[in-house]
Amino acid sequence: MLMLLALVFTLTLSAKPKIRIIATGGTIAGVSASATSSAYGAGQVGIQTLIDAVPQIKELADVSGEQLVNIGSQDMNDAVWLKLAKRINQLLSGDYDGVLVTHGTDTMEETAYFLSLTVHSDKPVILVGSMRPSTAISADGPANLYNGVAALVDPSSKGHGVMACMNNQLIDAKSLIKTHTTDCATFKGTYGEMGYVYNGKPYYIFEPTYKHTTRSIFNVDNLEKLPKVGIIYGYANCSTLPIEAFFKADFDGIVLAGVGDGNFYKDVFDVAVQMQESGTQIVRASRVPTGPTCLNGEVDDSKYHFVAALNLNPQKARVLLQLALTKTRDWQQIQKYFQEY
Ligand code: DGL
Repeated sequence: MLMLLALVFTLTLSAKPKIRIIATGGTIAGVSASATSSAYGAGQVGIQTLIDAVPQIKELADVSGEQLVNIGSQDMNDAVWLKLAKRINQLLSGDYDGVLVTHGTDTMEETAYFLSLTVHSDKPVILVGSMRPSTAISADGPANLYNGVAALVDPSSKGHGVMACMNNQLIDAKSLIKTHTTDCATFKGTYGEMGYVYNGKPYYIFEPTYKHTTRSIFNVDNLEKLPKVGIIYGYANCSTLPIEAFFKADFDGIVLAGVGDGNFYKDVFDVAVQMQESGTQIVRASRVPTGPTCLNGEVDDSKYHFVAALNLNPQKARVLLQLALTKTRDWQQIQKYFQEY
């Protein structure tokens, strides 16, 4: 009996964290014409090949994988987001200790933010991608995958919400932004990186103050689709054709990627006012990469019932507006969500 107890005790101690890798495609699964060619196709290689390419992760965790889709993330869509969030919630409500998502970098920041609002667990969820295809000289995917797993299995990673692990950095979902079209160091945190991975261990510098994961009220369990929200890019002498098309298509929400502090060309602004009056929620964001889009700055948001995006860029403001519209059409309540999430 004592021998049996000792064996169980030993097995329990030596049991590695159980993690699941969900693959969605991207350059990390990309294949180039040759090891030196910059031309490649994303989403070509399957999850088992990615796992087998980094055998060292098996020393860190009990790793298994599944292929959700195999796409370039420019083709990421609401249906995949909903499936991904539901699957992660299912895995984390079971005996998995964390989930890693391999993903293209083009829309990684949007998917990460969507998951930070819809995954209801304090277990870690980490997105990993790469800027060079799996077949390239000095491919960055394998190191990102190893660092992602190393962060995922560390007890200190619990409760930080959804994050990305790229180029040794750990960046929280809300501030994650792709800043360069080709650089391996492309991802930055709008307010700095939340942490970093060094010598196979994560080190956290700060905690996000916004609501995420277990503190989020947004739930996808009974959702089969998301509200229609479009983005209008602002510029000098901006045409009204795009926003008029969204108006005709009866979109539920519009994010204005405005100039400066979320300002818009007068003709477009006038259509936005009409849309708000007709029941479409307008959110003012900015094409400027840093700094908040402030409430009641040059635009009297209270007068028009517009919402200011505050610390969200246009593509993330769209994500929050989609989920907010599953809860309410009240512009003041939506503005409150933008202050909290
Ligand atoms: N097609 C892009 C994507 O899947 C490639 C960018 C990348 O993954 O680094 O996001």
